[in-house]
Amino acid sequence: MTDDRAASPDNNARHHTAVVGLQWGDEGKGKIVDLLTGRHDVIVRYNGGANAGHTIVVGDQRYALHLIPSGILYPDKVCVIGNGVVVDPEVLIEEIETLRARGVEVGANLRISDRAHVVMPYHKVHDAALEAVLASKASDDADLSIGTTKRGIGPAYADKVHRSTALRMGDLSDETRLRSKLRVICSIRSVELAALGVQAPPLDPDALAKQYAAFGRTLLPHITDTTYLLHDCLREGRSILFEGANACLLDIDHGTYPYVTSSNSSVLGVPAGTGVPGRNIDYVLGIMKAYTTRVGEGPFPTEQDNAIGERIRERGHEYGTTTNRPRRCGWLDLVAVRYSAMICGTTSLACMLLDVLSGFDELKLCTHYRLKDGSISDRFIPDAHRLSQIEAIYETLPGWSEEIDDATDRASLPANAQSYLKRIEEIVGVPIEIVSVGPERTQTVVEV
Ligand code: IMP
Repeated sequence: MTDDRAASPDNNARHHTAVVGLQWGDEGKGKIVDLLTGRHDVIVRYNGGANAGHTIVVGDQRYALHLIPSGILYPDKVCVIGNGVVVDPEVLIEEIETLRARGVEVGANLRISDRAHVVMPYHKVHDAALEAVLASKASDDADLSIGTTKRGIGPAYADKVHRSTALRMGDLSDETRLRSKLRVICSIRSVELAALGVQAPPLDPDALAKQYAAFGRTLLPHITDTTYLLHDCLREGRSILFEGANACLLDIDHGTYPYVTSSNSSVLGVPAGTGVPGRNIDYVLGIMKAYTTRVGEGPFPTEQDNAIGERIRERGHEYGTTTNRPRRCGWLDLVAVRYSAMICGTTSLACMLLDVLSGFDELKLCTHYRLKDGSISDRFIPDAHRLSQIEAIYETLPGWSEEIDDATDRASLPANAQSYLKRIEEIVGVPIEIVSVGPERTQTVVEV
């Protein structure tokens, strides 16, 4: 495999690509975005915040990024944090400094939307406090906690929708105005936090204004109107890669609500989160694991809370990049993947972590759901309560015993691994173009 082959279904085309996770996150988008970056000029994040985590392995170097697109590892690419992202300036500055300390250039190649919303410390406190209150009030039929990453994502997006109490990156450049706004916001927030049981002195708006204005000065060279920047890029014929964070089943509108994140984390988030109309996206690569994982609460029809799940977790190193929480693991839910592929307009699939399944005698693919009334359906249910009531119906396929981490093309995979992939393609109705058999860039099988 060469990086070039991975880059495009049509090596001659200048195109715009979206990369999106088709499950509940952590599908390995970082590796694929990294593979595709060589073929694109501009890499754009359009949603989410520091709740996301990409791990990219380059040689013996491992980079864990939360906010900055992984394209930053290439000096000639422009990386954009779009207006749909919620930015924690403290995390962002730390990420910039860590990259610089490791010799990665972060300058004019990083652009941040002046309209991206700011995650403030009180958002993080609110996120954790609300989760704790909800968990403490849990009863058998009503635990309303979500298992968030506690990165302040929900409260920051809630402020965006409230409007008057929100702060955007562009607001950080005017300390006087920032202070005035924060005086009002903090007076309200202090009361709200106290009501949630937070025992802390009232928020200090002047100190916060000083600290966040300083962050604003540090980030000022990067802050711009990224919508015009992206449209300029389109006009100049530069190709754009839209990098989704979180994943389709965590989408606020189309995921397993309420166990979702607070942004449009499917491809549908691209237009709103960047200002680029969806019709500009020619190629949508849906990333899926060869099995399913989920972090946090919420229904998971194919979960294997047993030795099978444990084996997948250990072989797949299924622990969160952001929170280090053990991920829940289970068989591949193709009802869910087919739904996500539909929502995202997926043109091809990347099947990640196939090597983790080596050594199972047999493998199960969930193809249908049995509903509460006994009927059988091949449709996903993007509602947590109703989804928790279904039973997964499986097709059983033979496994393979061989290790496959040095496979170079699909034909060199064991016959049963090839059949597993073929069955996924048949059921989802979308071709698999990339198969990942290990963390390294070279451990990638590409079929175009
Ligand atoms: P929040 O985004 O921190 O509000 O968390 C809401 C839900 O989305 C929780 O179940 C999180 O575990 C989950 N979540 C958010 N971002 C990611 C991600 O990047 N990967 C996996 N799960 C995520």
